Amino acid sequence: MIIHWLDSIDSTNSEALRRLPELPGGTVLAAYEQTAGRGQRGNTWFTQAGKNLTFSIVLKDLSLSAPEAIRLNYLTSVAVAAYLESRGVKADIKWPNDIYVNGRKICGMLLENTLGPGGRLLASVVGIGININQKEFSQLANATSLGLCTGREYGLEEELEAFLSVFEGLLPQLSSEELFAAYSARLFRKGVPARYHDLLSDCEYQGVIEGVEPDGRLHIRNLDGGDYYYRFKEVSYIL
Ligand code: BTN
Repeated sequence: MIIHWLDSIDSTNSEALRRLPELPGGTVLAAYEQTAGRGQRGNTWFTQAGKNLTFSIVLKDLSLSAPEAIRLNYLTSVAVAAYLESRGVKADIKWPNDIYVNGRKICGMLLENTLGPGGRLLASVVGIGININQKEFSQLANATSLGLCTGREYGLEEELEAFLSVFEGLLPQLSSEELFAAYSARLFRKGVPARYHDLLSDCEYQGVIEGVEPDGRLHIRNLDGGDYYYRFKEVSYIL
C-alpha cells in the first residue's frame, strides 16, 4: 500500500472520492487534520488535529457484488480490533462497525462504495478514524483512545503502518468463513441482556444479541419473546 500523508484536508474520504479515477487500488490518504471529517448518518467526525489516525484506503478490483461488499465491513472491523489487540487492548465490535474498548468508542469507519454495471463493486473508499493520542473528548462523553487505555504516546506514522499490515494480512480472507467468525466472536454485548430501541416501531425493550446473519443483519432476541433481525439504522443500542 502507498501512503500519502496530507497536512490538512476537509475529509480523507471526500478527497479519495474526488481523486478516485486517478488513484490506484492500495492508495492510502492519511491526514494530520480533517476540517470536515464525515461520520455515519451524515454526522461530523470530530478529532483533534495531529492526535489521531484519520485515513482512507482506496480498494479497487475486488471482484465483489454489491451484497458481498458487507465483507469489507467485516474485514475492516476485525483488522482494527486485531491491531488494537496487538497493542494490548481488548476491543469489541459494536454492530455494524464501531470499535469499542471498555464500553467506549475508540474507532469509527465510513465505507463508501462505487458500483458498476451488473451491480459489481468497482471501488471502495474505506475511511477509518482511530483515536490514538487524544486524551480529552469534551464533545463526546463516550469516547476513548489508545493512549487513554495504555497511558502511552504513539507515533501516528508507525501506528498507521502497523494497522495497514494487519489489514493487508487479512485481505486474502475477504471471502472466508474465518473472517465472519472472527467478526462474530468480537461482537459487543453478545449474549448479554441490555436495552435496545427498535427504530421501526419506536419501542424500547430488553433483549440479547444472538449474532449477525451472513447478510449483515443483527439478530436480537427480545426477552419478552420474539426474534428480531435488523438492518443498519433500524435499531439503536441504549448505552
Ligand atoms: C462514524 O463512526 O460515524 C464513522 C467515522 C468515520 C471517520 C473517518 S476519519 C477518516 C475518514 N474520512 C472521513 O471524513 N471519515 C472517515
